[in-house]
Amino acid sequence: MTIQWYPGHMHKAGKEIKQVLTQVDLVIEVLDARIPFSSQNPMLAKLRGDKPCIKVLNKSDLADPNNIAIWQSYLEQQESVKTLVVAKDQPDKAKQIVELCRKLVGAEHSPDRLVHALIMGIPNVGKSTLINALAGRVIAKTGNEPAVTKHQQRIAIGKNVVLLDTPGMLWPNLENQPSAYRLAATGAIKDTAISHDDIAWYLLDYLAKTYPNLLQSRFHLVDLSLNGQELLESIGRKRGCIVSGGRVDHDKTAKIVLNELRSGGLGRVSLETPDMMQQELVQVAINRQIKADKKRGLPPKSSSNNSSTTC
Ligand code: G4P
Repeated sequence: MTIQWYPGHMHKAGKEIKQVLTQVDLVIEVLDARIPFSSQNPMLAKLRGDKPCIKVLNKSDLADPNNIAIWQSYLEQQESVKTLVVAKDQPDKAKQIVELCRKLVGAEHSPDRLVHALIMGIPNVGKSTLINALAGRVIAKTGNEPAVTKHQQRIAIGKNVVLLDTPGMLWPNLENQPSAYRLAATGAIKDTAISHDDIAWYLLDYLAKTYPNLLQSRFHLVDLSLNGQELLESIGRKRGCIVSGGRVDHDKTAKIVLNELRSGGLGRVSLETPDMMQQELVQVAINRQIKADKKRGLPPKSSSNNSSTTC
């Protein structure tokens, strides 16, 4: 199945980001450390120009530490980007953001200079938790519906650093369908947008290839050469998710699998690498071309990979 995305939202969000960027010295982008590519704002690199950016890899307690390190070095190759790895149980680590903000704009020796940072992140990435840790108090949440403007908040986080938290410019990156599945698996896209079975199949296929030991030890599976559907069936039987006629309740089993991932029960798991990202971006470009050709009434090229992604 295909998860939809809305270019209209993206366009509006892009305009809003551009406008807010004129008011700040730097950007703090909160990413899910398990999916740094899929949780990033696909337009930010272009929109921010040479404005410094801190990419905060949050929920690091749930992500594979080796993979986090790979992403850090990949992301820091980008112009004026620094990364910081945090988790909600390490508020002191999060506080390093304040010094880093000052340093990145060259204000570390000018304590009186006020520094403004735009903080952004897709829903459920842990942005509010992080803001609360930085502010040292509970700040009311801004709305995080895509392209819905509520109100902008300015939050002082000490040492003359002020965060701008602006709703209305957040959207998940759904043009790449595998990203949509990974966002759904981590809970960033509401469960209603896609069936649990579909997400669990995708996840189990990936886990069997990438983290077979974790999968095996959590669910006591014998045969990891099975595909995602077969693995789900097998887990359902082991966990007693059986309905009338002895059939496996796929929806219930899928929810168990997803909950294991989201709660960390499976262990520390990352769902993407920079290499995967590069390959998927090639596919996105091919799909865009196919769509553009179709719009112009051109016949499909025989060599084109006309795969299932229809975004
Ligand atoms: P948002 O503003 O970006 O939408 O996210 P928010 O801070 O509300 O966090 C979304 C969920 O992610 C919350 O769980 C929060 O506790 C959890 N979370 C945030 N940071 C981390 C982290 O570093 N590690 C882990 N494991 N979880 C994190 P919730 O169950 O929705 O709420 P709650 O019951 O914890 O309050």
